[in-house]
Amino acid sequence: MSPARIERRVLVAGILLVVTIIAAALTTAVAGAQVKPVVTASTISTVTASVTTITPAVVATQVAGGTGGYAMDFTLPTFGKSGCLVCHGDPNLVVAQGDATHSFWVDEAAYNHSAHATVVCTGCHTDYGYKAPHGQAGEDWRAVAKQSCKNCHPNEFRDWSLGAHAPVPTADRKPDPKAANKPLCGDCHGGHNMVVLKNNPAGQAEVHAQAQQMCGREGCHADYWANYNDYYHGAAYKTGAADAPTCWTCHGTHTVLKSSDRFSPTNAANLGAANSCGTPGCHAESGSSLAAYAPMIHGRATIAAKNPVVRFLDLVLGRK
Ligand code: HEC
Ligand code: HEC
Ligand code: HEC
Ligand code: HEC
Ligand code: HEC
Repeated sequence: MSPARIERRVLVAGILLVVTIIAAALTTAVAGAQVKPVVTASTISTVTASVTTITPAVVATQVAGGTGGYAMDFTLPTFGKSGCLVCHGDPNLVVAQGDATHSFWVDEAAYNHSAHATVVCTGCHTDYGYKAPHGQAGEDWRAVAKQSCKNCHPNEFRDWSLGAHAPVPTADRKPDPKAANKPLCGDCHGGHNMVVLKNNPAGQAEVHAQAQQMCGREGCHADYWANYNDYYHGAAYKTGAADAPTCWTCHGTHTVLKSSDRFSPTNAANLGAANSCGTPGCHAESGSSLAAYAPMIHGRATIAAKNPVVRFLDLVLGRK
């Protein structure tokens, strides 16, 4: 189905919806009850049915026949959560795209369980605020949503901006050629299912265990996930040990700097008990031998391959 055709269908669905909701709201208002859009199963099936049955010819006539500019400019009944969920809360919101179908359903129960349960959809989808769905939003709506976070989380945004994951313009002021590979907030965190961390040990444990999804995905640091295998850290982490460090325990969470940067917690000068390795809960007691151990963290396989003693011990102890 062509985008224009889908758009028109959505538009008509939207108009029908607004009419239904205004009617419902008026009825309720007249009855003296609280004014609030009422969404019933029949409203939803009306919307779904119109999305699937109206032909482009009918839409064209309707638009030409008087609705005029109103068509593209109509305002959502509410840009609060409920306004969006009238359509997106319907599990049947599935749209044909080429030979496949794509679901645009947002699981309301899961959403209400997430850290953003009280945040309106347009808090992140800032480009969907006032206009009808959805021709108004630009092509880059994903990028908009993935970095909208800065409006509400300025500290994390500042921290991220200072690190190697933020785009840096080139010396001649061209955009960072590596920008497309660098993660925006939403690339690490996702969109709708972020767990609550504050005062929630279960949520903290869940995120602690997400090193591979957060950092070690294909296209990101799959190689460093694979080589994170030393006995005390990576191997323990991969067996699920809750007290084994995850990537950001050592590298930092938002201000991630290359170890060659002298401000990086993983810079050779900053290892040791007084600095990174001495992170509370880690190695406060030991001395400078910690720094000497660091190359094992990601280099265990390479080091073992070159060292007959380590190879022998591995064999005897059955270590990998
Ligand atoms: C009238 C029904 C309806 C309402 C109300 C609605 N949407 Fe949608 N939305 C859709 C449909 C249908 C699609 C799939 C469109 C397509 O195929 O391009 C969609 C797609 C989207 C997409 C994905 C866009 C893309 O190009 O893939 C986002 C994001 C979105 N909607 C957000 C919202 C937000 C935020 C709100 C509330 C402000 C909202 N929608 C209200 C029907 C609706
Ligand atoms: C905390 C920010 C945030 C909030 C709040 C939020 N979204 Fe999203 N949403 C995102 C991000 C980021 C993506 C893109 C995810 C991706 O591409 O990995 C997205 C994607 C979508 C999509 C497209 C899904 C797809 O598979 O193409 C729809 C539809 C959508 N959101 C609707 C909503 C609705 C409806 C609400 C409110 C109930 C909402 N969003 C609230 C961040 C958010
Ligand atoms: C490279 C991946 C990554 C990127 C990019 C990223 N984050 Fe995070 N963020 C994390 C991880 C991992 C945690 C969990 C830290 C923990 O549990 O100690 C986190 C935690 C958070 C928290 C909770 C803070 C707290 O103290 O508990 C917020 C809020 C947050 N991030 C917002 C953002 C924002 C806003 C951006 C973009 C400016 C962003 N993040 C970019 C990985 C990332
Ligand atoms: C409109 C404001 C708003 C936007 C936009 C927003 N957030 Fe949030 N976020 C919140 C609120 C409010 C909370 C709950 C905070 C609390 O309980 O202290 C929260 C909680 C979180 C948490 C859990 C923190 C904790 O300690 O429990 C993370 C992680 C997070 N947001 C990341 C993001 C990311 C990533 C984005 C962008 C994709 C984003 N937020 C967009 C308002 C927002
Ligand atoms: C116990 C601390 C520690 C943990 C946990 C850790 N690293 Fe490292 N990482 C280091 C040190 C030290 C270096 C620098 C020395 C080296 O390259 O071996 C480094 C180097 C790197 C580098 C090369 C870039 C640079 O800064 O030099 C990447 C990429 C990396 N780590 C990713 C990861 C990922 C992904 C994880 C989680 C799967 C992870 N690290 C877990 C300590 C750690």
